[in-house]
Amino acid sequence: MQYATITGWGKCVPPAVLTNDDLSTFIDTSDEWIRPRTGIKQRHISHVGTSELATVAAKHALAAAGLEGSDIDMIILATASPDTLIPNIAATVQANIGAKCAAFDINAACSGFLYGLGLASGQIRSGQCQRVLVIGAERLTFYLDWSRRETAVLFGDGAGAAVVEATDKKEGILAYELNNDPAGRDILKAGFGTSMDRFSPESLDFFIQFDGQEIFKRAIAGMGKLSKLVLEKCDLDKEDVDLVIPHQANERIIDTLVSRMKIDKEKAFVNIANYGNTSAATIPIAICDAIEQGRIQPGQTILSCAFGAGLTSAAAVIKW
Ligand code: ACO
Repeated sequence: MQYATITGWGKCVPPAVLTNDDLSTFIDTSDEWIRPRTGIKQRHISHVGTSELATVAAKHALAAAGLEGSDIDMIILATASPDTLIPNIAATVQANIGAKCAAFDINAACSGFLYGLGLASGQIRSGQCQRVLVIGAERLTFYLDWSRRETAVLFGDGAGAAVVEATDKKEGILAYELNNDPAGRDILKAGFGTSMDRFSPESLDFFIQFDGQEIFKRAIAGMGKLSKLVLEKCDLDKEDVDLVIPHQANERIIDTLVSRMKIDKEKAFVNIANYGNTSAATIPIAICDAIEQGRIQPGQTILSCAFGAGLTSAAAVIKW
């Protein structure tokens, strides 16, 4: 039986940084409000499009795996902020890395990278593909209304990528769970000018809107439920988990999630302070940072989970 394992990883975070104090110079907010409620200290702001961030992350991931673009059988790019709707931006990345293969975008919001990892695992385990490039990339700050403090303080830009390859060893993505709750689709949304009635005021509403407290509760419940299911699927218990890499939307969500799951807080990887919420990019960026910090070691069991607009949720168990 073939398994699908991560052999390369890379990230791209734009150099420009906007701190909480910087934000407070032009909107009515403060570090004292943002930090304790979210864990965010700063975010990176991109002056280039999502596909460019994705390309740099992809090139790093290919280099780490020792592969060329031409070795890749499929590119799956998770984003909710593509720089073009048609063609998909996976095609732009494909051209930039010189790959000849299938390439497409998916939008599962903040759960997008784990959705992509699940699809990649399915393609590899069925024998259809040998090497899949999965990317999570966002330039959400482009869509923010910088006068709305409720949303302006939360998001950042960035990209992360993983090369997923076939292996005969029982390692890599042991199991994954994907879900969507359409009853909650109005709780978190962004029109991006795509309303069907182009003369309605909503058609001009490009901005992210959400019910923060409702998301807070549902994110903890959703990620907790799928994490339990995915551990059961591979006959593992919470004690077997060495590291949890959750979507980084709010540090308090992560704290509450691991505390409800009765997992040691030290096992949760948190890097939201540096990046804010980069949606589909938070998990691959966190994987890169965890590796750089020595938090991921060979043989370890990683639980990753995410929650986002849709309302999507996802979880995966990865044997490193
Ligand atoms: N600075 C200062 N004050 C603010 C700010 C700000 N940036 N934003 C809101 N406030 C004010 C509000 O106006 C309100 O004032 P009022 O009491 O006078 O009316 C007060 O602060 C409280 O606002 P709430 O929205 O109730 O604040 P809450 O404690 O719920 O925290 C937050 C908001 C941080 C967004 C929280 O709900 C949250 O983290 N939710 C989940 C994460 C989330 O929604 N992420 C969005 C993407 S979804 C995802 O990635 C899964």
